[in-house]
Amino acid sequence: MGEPGAIVLSGGPKSTSEADAPDINFEKLQAYGCPVLGVCYGMQLLNIKFGGTVEASDRREYGQAALRPDSCSGLYEGVSAESQVWMSHSDTVKTLGSDAKVLASNHNFLLTAESLQEFHIDDFKREMLEGIRETVGDKVVVCGVSGGVDSTVLAVLLKEAGVNMRAIFVDHGLLRKNEGEEVRNNFHRMGVEIETVECADRFLGELAGVSEPEKKREIIGNLFIDVFWDSVGNADMLAQGTLYPDVIESASNSKSKASKIKTHHNRVDRILELQAQGKVLEPLAELFKDEVRELGISLGIAPDIVGRHPFPGPGLAVRCPGAIEQKKLDIIRECDAIFIGKLHEHGWYDKVWQAYAALIPVKTVGVTGDERSYEWAISLRAVISEDAMTADWVELPYEILRETSARILNEVSGINRVLYDVSTKPPASIEWE
Ligand code: XMP
Repeated sequence: MGEPGAIVLSGGPKSTSEADAPDINFEKLQAYGCPVLGVCYGMQLLNIKFGGTVEASDRREYGQAALRPDSCSGLYEGVSAESQVWMSHSDTVKTLGSDAKVLASNHNFLLTAESLQEFHIDDFKREMLEGIRETVGDKVVVCGVSGGVDSTVLAVLLKEAGVNMRAIFVDHGLLRKNEGEEVRNNFHRMGVEIETVECADRFLGELAGVSEPEKKREIIGNLFIDVFWDSVGNADMLAQGTLYPDVIESASNSKSKASKIKTHHNRVDRILELQAQGKVLEPLAELFKDEVRELGISLGIAPDIVGRHPFPGPGLAVRCPGAIEQKKLDIIRECDAIFIGKLHEHGWYDKVWQAYAALIPVKTVGVTGDERSYEWAISLRAVISEDAMTADWVELPYEILRETSARILNEVSGINRVLYDVSTKPPASIEWE
């Protein structure tokens, strides 16, 4: 790698006033002589380095905000007079450092850089294939597949690399309606052989009575490893479709300055131990979802498979707050299938980044056929996002919501109320847990 063409100092959960706040080598940064963009924390830190001050505020701001540039030229070329941005902060720049002018806060930054290496997915794919062959050699790799985009792309990538792989599909009893069959069909279409391990009893047994979200994630993540290892007795390595946002939000790297939001199933302690022994292969860990999709297309995976909505490894467990019960899972499955079916029917599935139904385990009173009912509620969520780090709820046509709600209330017993989730990320997350 040569000298950087541009540097971005990212945001983070710390305040610059905290004793262990991350710092930079300012002299080295200046010596590079390339443009530097500070975002949130990065901007506040730079301001301090230039002699400005940053003040903590008790007013926290989260969610959508408008960026209003003073002109639509220069750094703002192509940016509309009012653009939507996302806030998630409380500290604020109080006084500006020397030579600082308020001109721009983001956008077009890279246009100021003179020499940047371009990112081409095909070059990246070539490097990844070489890297995989070199790391794996003749070792046996167990690759967990869920049917989701990430693990699917990973399995095809490993196949392309000619690795000695066993692809394992774990049916943990937390899948959506007909999901097992769909996943097997899709892998058959791609010519990748997968082995299904049916272990719903094992997962649901260990999860019985557990309602704490991180505990659920830990149980599921550890069980995945047990199942992989048990089913492929002689595996040397574990391959996972971990993406960059999984690494950031799980804050699993001991050097990480990020805050742990939730432990993604592929970041539990058992995996970190295997990782320390060099037994975990995660070729996608530097990529965001849109790049993984691009990689999938370049590997010849059909657009309908690459375009599937993301589905979390812990499955319906994170859409079933509180203790998991078979009855709750059945309800979620039915409601989810109705909702997703309606999105397809109205041509909205591909316009939405991710959509699903989650159970709200709170009973409320209703009336069915002149009789009192006392049932749970279901929440429908549809979001758009680019990388899952931020997300906005989708303004679905009322027609879709009305038809979905009517079908759920008529057909799914145990539900007497349907809600639509209008929360952005931040401050909410995409999943319920
Ligand atoms: P959150 O809820 O953190 O979700 O805003 C961001 C994206 O990540 C997915 N997600 C997961 N995916 N294992 C996964 O494979 C996990 O443990 C996990 N948790 C969340 C979620 O569906 C959304 O697309």
